[in-house]
Amino acid sequence: MFHLAWFTNPRAHGWTANGADRWAGNDIHPERWQTLSFLKDMVRQLEGAGFDFIMIEDHVVLTNDKNNLEPRIDPMIVMPVLAEATRRLGIIGTFSSSFYPPFLLARQINSLDLVSGGRCGWNVVTSSEDWAAQAFGRDKQPPHDERYAIADEMLDLVKQLWDAWEPDPWEMSAETGRYVDPTKFREFTFEGKYHRSIGPLNVTRSPQGRPVICQAGSSPAGRDFAAKHSEVILCSTFGRDSVPALKEFRDDIRERMVAHGRDPDEAKVMFLISPVLGDTEEAAQARYEEVVGMTPTILAQRLGRLTLHTGLDWTKFDLDAPFPDIDPADIQGFQGFVASIKAKAKGGKSLREALCEQETTSLKLIGTPEQVADRMEAAIEEIGGDGFLMHARPLTRRYLAEVLDGLVPILQRRGLVRREYAATTLRGHLAEF
Ligand SMILES: Cc1cc2nc3c(=O)[nH]c(=O)nc-3n(C[C@H](O)[C@H](O)[C@H](O)COP(=O)(O)O)c2cc1C
Repeated sequence: MFHLAWFTNPRAHGWTANGADRWAGNDIHPERWQTLSFLKDMVRQLEGAGFDFIMIEDHVVLTNDKNNLEPRIDPMIVMPVLAEATRRLGIIGTFSSSFYPPFLLARQINSLDLVSGGRCGWNVVTSSEDWAAQAFGRDKQPPHDERYAIADEMLDLVKQLWDAWEPDPWEMSAETGRYVDPTKFREFTFEGKYHRSIGPLNVTRSPQGRPVICQAGSSPAGRDFAAKHSEVILCSTFGRDSVPALKEFRDDIRERMVAHGRDPDEAKVMFLISPVLGDTEEAAQARYEEVVGMTPTILAQRLGRLTLHTGLDWTKFDLDAPFPDIDPADIQGFQGFVASIKAKAKGGKSLREALCEQETTSLKLIGTPEQVADRMEAAIEEIGGDGFLMHARPLTRRYLAEVLDGLVPILQRRGLVRREYAATTLRGHLAEF
């Protein structure tokens, strides 16, 4: 069996550079998406389909591309709303290790885990954008590998904060007059290179003890961080459709986990996919062309996105010259993104050609629901595990119905994915198979 999860952003769904998808209906209107009504409907449906979790993506600032602005809502506010709308679905939010004091974030996520009955997780990102640093009153972000070192120390502290309370600390004695037993927590002082704090939190132990840690780095430093701390590891080959590349990623993560003294089955590696479904293969292919079809607007957006995520201005390169000679290790933003697009340009391709092929997903899944189910099944068999993180583009009610009422029941009939939840917590879902 394999795991299924959903990846989304709390922003205008159904909006594309080509205009609004006609199936988006009212969901693209700000007065509607900003009330989260669509997201609430969506999480109920994901739960009905037995998904492990929804992962809410985030960046703390606007893009620097004024033609492609993406206002959004803070995941910290979205998460309790989605938790209230569901009973089993895991809810993972993205929070940057660069912009939260560890004590504050540990307290907030612990609180979320408490109010959701043990269903929360934290997608740890380090944030590469200097203008995000400036928004928080600093000059610029630290270099790539140092950001991971800062996050690593933050995780050590946050875990100590989460571990400081024993379960069941309630004394509730009329005799002592105490509600809480004062011997049930550990006081401590943390003095690190980057962080200082004292514990414990004033929030008691959450149902999961430690909320689930999720991470998506693909550089050597990113993989090592994930292997040390995460229970959910997100992987995208950014459009390089290659099952061996996915297997290499998962095998490498598992080896690194062993090196950190962990059981590799403690983490699930989830591969980002965005299936395009149709009644026939031809219909699905035609929709795919519509979705990824290259227009000048989309090309400009891809350049903007590459610039945003890598911290390098790609607009300065000649689109039709051979792909620029860039070493991903010199990039201070997403190194994995650059490595993938560079791989796409192999054989003397231009930046334009590489951008035209560039996609965000890990496997090309285009076809009827049966065909897509076949490919998912075969890929997981070859890779060895663990599951898929699904991403819609654009996200519409029609897309949800196609996946949740079309594709997922086929996977369920084949016994490949869950029909009913056996556990109540996110960690319980992850550990189920
Ligand atoms: C599926 C997926 C989701 C991600 N979500 C976010 C996000 O919400 N916010 C963010 O700043 N970075 C996000 N990232 C970027 C990663 O956190 C990481 O910075 C990126 O993969 C580059 O890591 P590397 O430099 O170690 O290769 C995501 C990456 C992937 C593959």
